[in-house]
Amino acid sequence: MVRKKPLAQTPDATHSTEARPTRALVLHPDTRAGDRSGRDPERALEECISLAHALPGLDVLGGDTVRLPNPHPGMLFGKGKVEELRLRIEAEEIELILIDGIVTPVQQRNLEKVWKTKLLDRTGLILEIFADRAATREGVLQVELAALTYQRTRLVRAWTHLERQRGGLGFVGGPGETQIEADRRAIDEQMVKLRRQLDKVVKTRELHRAARAKVPYPVVALVGYTNAGKSTLFNRLTGADVLAKDMLFATLDPTMRAVDLPHDVHVILSDTVGFISDLPTQLVAAFRATLEEVLDADLIVHVRDISHPDTELQARDVEAILEALGTSEDIPRLEMWNKADALDMDAMQAAANLAARRDDVYLGSALTGQGLQRLLERVATEVTETLQETVLLLPFAAGKARAWLHDEGAVQGETATEQGTEFTLRWTTRQAQRFAGAFPELVPAGRDTPDEPEEETSGTGWSP
Ligand code: GTP
Repeated sequence: MVRKKPLAQTPDATHSTEARPTRALVLHPDTRAGDRSGRDPERALEECISLAHALPGLDVLGGDTVRLPNPHPGMLFGKGKVEELRLRIEAEEIELILIDGIVTPVQQRNLEKVWKTKLLDRTGLILEIFADRAATREGVLQVELAALTYQRTRLVRAWTHLERQRGGLGFVGGPGETQIEADRRAIDEQMVKLRRQLDKVVKTRELHRAARAKVPYPVVALVGYTNAGKSTLFNRLTGADVLAKDMLFATLDPTMRAVDLPHDVHVILSDTVGFISDLPTQLVAAFRATLEEVLDADLIVHVRDISHPDTELQARDVEAILEALGTSEDIPRLEMWNKADALDMDAMQAAANLAARRDDVYLGSALTGQGLQRLLERVATEVTETLQETVLLLPFAAGKARAWLHDEGAVQGETATEQGTEFTLRWTTRQAQRFAGAFPELVPAGRDTPDEPEEETSGTGWSP
């Protein structure tokens, strides 16, 4: 039985809405040399404070950047800094320290002891937010799995460290080897169980997807950095009421809706989880399944907050995550430069000039609706281009391929001929590519990419 529950490291108060909020302080270690992708430490701190605000039950008192040229292996910070912070923590009655970076289990344990507070590092914090947001069963299972993967690596690291310290003997200063082994086994068993449940849930969802595919609308996936305005855009386009808040990761599970576009074009629009820099690798892996809709999309619209000072870095992070997820470069992409209304006149002019130089960029505002009509026209054109009609002759024995085409809702008609069954298909370029990948032997030689532009909707497709 899986339920939404706080992850192991969190103080209970974090998740209780009735209890007094937990007083929290954010620290951004400014390591200079290895600072994340050149982000300004002050802005990195701001982002982490926003993350902290995204977790209910916290009273975020603020934050500080702490210069940290050489992280201390045992305590992260130097002695003087640890003591200075201890005094502050005591004076301000701080109960939770959030560190915007990686903290080893040993550092965490030592700092918690000296400061008499709870401590979460960046991965822990993001996991907490995801655990809080996950609404569907699949989301909950995935977050739990990611949290366990995270905890497991921390057990291993703690163990390696202790072993080194003790020369592989004794049980000084922490859980002993046997305990860690037992914890690891327990985690492994739990992970096997979760994976089994997840498999079931994913299968059910695939069935739903197959049912949905009976209406072969192309899928348009909205992706973007957290808080870029995806849900606001989604709501405006679909008239839906998806939670859109100035709150990071308001959308965790993908939300899908059919949308009517100009020229009688219909698409399925999907709103996905927001991306963030340094997304813990466990989460990238765990969210692969949730983000399948993106991997399978016919068009990706990358929503960017063009008014954000780090918009370029954010865009690069999004691209990197899309790549890490294995998103095909063949899927056409558009960029929606959102929040144009928040730009001053000069910035607006500069952005408009840049946008005008690119064919794939639309400047506008999901909030005011400015620029959206043009974007929609373009989306309609793009997806119409991806929809094609194809006639395909399959041998009678190709039962699997036939079932595949029906599951995808691509079949418009089928006629038996002497050579086999002739299928009239209406499908997207992506579907045609996936078919070619699944049944290469059935694709006529030299025709493994069916999306030759001159044949778009004309008809004969792959028929010999
Ligand atoms: P995640 O769920 O974290 O991925 O966020 P999201 O990308 O779905 O962002 P969301 O739509 O929740 O918007 C985040 C904040 O930006 C909200 O406060 C919105 O009102 C605001 N916002 C969205 N679009 C615009 C816009 O065009 N202009 C302005 N000024 N604000 C916007």
